[in-house]
Amino acid sequence: MLARALLQLYLFNLFLFPVELKPNFLFIVVDDLRPALGCYKDPNAYTPNIDKLAKNSFLFNRAYAQQSLCAPSRNSFLTSRRPDTLLLYDFNNYWRDSKDKNFTTLPQYLKEKGGYVTKSIGKIFHPGISSNYSDDSPYSWSEIPFHPFTNKYKNAPVCFDDSSYLNNPASNLVCPVNVSTTPGGILPDMEILEAAKTFLNHQQSNENPFLLAVGFEKPHIPLKYPSHFKSYHPLDKFIDIKNYSWPKNINNIAYNPWIDLRKRHDIKLLNLNFPWEKISMNYAKKIIQSYYSAVSYIDYLIGILIKQLRILKLDTNTIIILTSDHGWSLGEHGLWAKYSNFDVALRVPLIISLPDDDKLLINNKNDNEYKFIKNNKITRINSIVELVDLFPTITEFAEIPIPICSIVDKSQIINNNNPCSEGISIVPVIAAAIANNSTNITWKKAAFSQYPRPSLEPMLKPNSDEPKLNEIKFMGYTVRTKRFRYTAWLKFNQNKKKSNWNKFIAEELYDHNFDPNEIFNQQNNDSYRKIKQKIKKLLKNGWRKALP
Ligand SMILES: *[C@@H]1O[C@H](CO)[C@@H](O)[C@H](O)[C@H]1NC(C)=O
Ligand SMILES: *[C@@H]1O[C@H](CO)[C@@H](O)[C@H](O)[C@H]1NC(C)=O
Ligand SMILES: *[C@@H]1O[C@H](CO)[C@@H](O)[C@H](O)[C@H]1NC(C)=O
Ligand SMILES: *[C@@H]1O[C@H](CO)[C@@H](O)[C@H](O)[C@H]1NC(C)=O
Ligand SMILES: *[C@@H]1O[C@H](CO)[C@@H](O)[C@H](O)[C@H]1NC(C)=O
Ligand SMILES: *[C@@H]1O[C@H](CO)[C@@H](O)[C@H](O)[C@H]1NC(C)=O
Ligand SMILES: *[C@@H]1O[C@H](CO)[C@@H](O)[C@H](O)[C@H]1NC(C)=O
Ligand SMILES: *[C@@H]1O[C@H](CO)[C@@H](O)[C@H](O)[C@H]1NC(C)=O
Repeated sequence: MLARALLQLYLFNLFLFPVELKPNFLFIVVDDLRPALGCYKDPNAYTPNIDKLAKNSFLFNRAYAQQSLCAPSRNSFLTSRRPDTLLLYDFNNYWRDSKDKNFTTLPQYLKEKGGYVTKSIGKIFHPGISSNYSDDSPYSWSEIPFHPFTNKYKNAPVCFDDSSYLNNPASNLVCPVNVSTTPGGILPDMEILEAAKTFLNHQQSNENPFLLAVGFEKPHIPLKYPSHFKSYHPLDKFIDIKNYSWPKNINNIAYNPWIDLRKRHDIKLLNLNFPWEKISMNYAKKIIQSYYSAVSYIDYLIGILIKQLRILKLDTNTIIILTSDHGWSLGEHGLWAKYSNFDVALRVPLIISLPDDDKLLINNKNDNEYKFIKNNKITRINSIVELVDLFPTITEFAEIPIPICSIVDKSQIINNNNPCSEGISIVPVIAAAIANNSTNITWKKAAFSQYPRPSLEPMLKPNSDEPKLNEIKFMGYTVRTKRFRYTAWLKFNQNKKKSNWNKFIAEELYDHNFDPNEIFNQQNNDSYRKIKQKIKKLLKNGWRKALP
């Protein structure tokens, strides 16, 4: 805190800022965004605005969601509890409805403990039952959450396509649109941007610090975007998907049948046999093209939002955090969407941009060190981090840190005045990266995630992608270490709502050193026997034992 004191003195002398200066937070959550970004070295991406943000920022190369489904992932990172603690693996429950799970959320804590104005714009909590139809209001937010008016046209038949078999606008998956002819004449994410700008305009004169949480809705399906963004992504730049098929040596329980895609008009017309028939490579490329186009569209909106922050001079004291709720398969393993335990469904972008003032805070004001982060380069951090780490990270920046949840102190569990975390603040990783001019800081041993299934084979009913709590028969637990991903599928006991670590259904082991796409399951390979035993133990011992 000495550094903070020095910083305050420094600011006080130079700019006559108030001494009690807490940083603002602009927390951007992009729905279903895998790191399909230029700054993540994705050759297909066109994302100039996010790439610009990443300069002088900390970019986490190995950031993972705890479950690749919107509601469970969001509930998890907004409470800093894992899906097993919340017992929320679906859209159909609200954590506060269980008396012993009335956990404090990140915005609630900033509001109550830090005096923050907290505002939710767009999709931050998953709407519906899982946030009590109110985005957890009034607990989390000091203002009424904003949702776009045009969300009600989500499934309107407005998608144009130049391919001959789709002449009439329809409710397609692939959905470039002419915005002026869509109902309302505007798209939801454009409304979200406007609402965020309006909120920022009102903050200049506000004494209190703010947390502005902006949840952009694309590239979630339908892949609806202003059609001109397609011009950045000519179809012929997309090469054939590598290994576009379900590998023989991976158990079918790991397969997610992408049921939500099949409900879209254009996919229905393909007449695919459930669950194994693949989308033709030609149409697969059109889906990929539209995913990247939708990402470029969101990138454009994010550029305007960040510019507004600068215009209002709020950038000098605002920490920007950009992430997603989980990834998305773009044909890898013959799969689409989220709903799985594969790296493509769990890995998320995570970019943390500190204003210069806070860079000073964590680097002891040594001139050389300061230059390191002012050199207009992206600081890539390879340490493993998880979305549950965001809550303790943000609260540490706000100087109201929260501890790691203790296993012994039960009162900690729901004590609202003292919330705790099932993650760990990554501020020390950032500080070490600066202090040591190194991006390979030894940190967590692994990231932990999970996915439930209602059956061994992929099914429509119950829905294998989105089983309800009372339909879950199996749970897949997975860990990602620097080199490996190991997944174990276990029997799930419905009465106890617990997984049985003596009933293994299937295992997977992937060696990312030569198999980044997780195609060669090595679980039966003798060369990996020792390492498999070791990682299996790591998985079973859980996240606490993997902490730094
Ligand atoms: C959920 O919302 C309803 C209706 O607004 C309210 O009566 C209820 O108390 C809320 N649940 C909790 C746990 O706050
Ligand atoms: C749950 O927590 C909220 C706010 O943290 C509190 O107002 C409410 O009374 C709690 N509900 C129960 C049932 O404990
Ligand atoms: C969008 O629709 C309007 C109204 O029909 C039309 O004037 C305009 O040319 C269209 N724009 C594009 C890019 O097709
Ligand atoms: C994946 O594709 C590569 C190159 O096309 C091929 O050599 C390999 O056998 C494929 N692997 C599997 C598991 O299908
Ligand atoms: C940090 O390391 C990079 C390469 O690893 C080097 O180019 C740079 O000069 C270093 N910066 C400082 C301030 O030591
Ligand atoms: C910097 O690196 C050294 C050696 O790798 C390590 O002992 C030290 O803890 C690191 N410093 C920080 C601040 O992480
Ligand atoms: C840091 O980690 C990356 C990725 O694991 C590796 O390629 C690189 O060689 C490492 N750098 C150092 C200095 O250890
Ligand atoms: C087993 O692993 C070794 C070491 O990576 C590899 O060379 C070999 O091809 C693997 N065997 C099989 C059957 O995949």
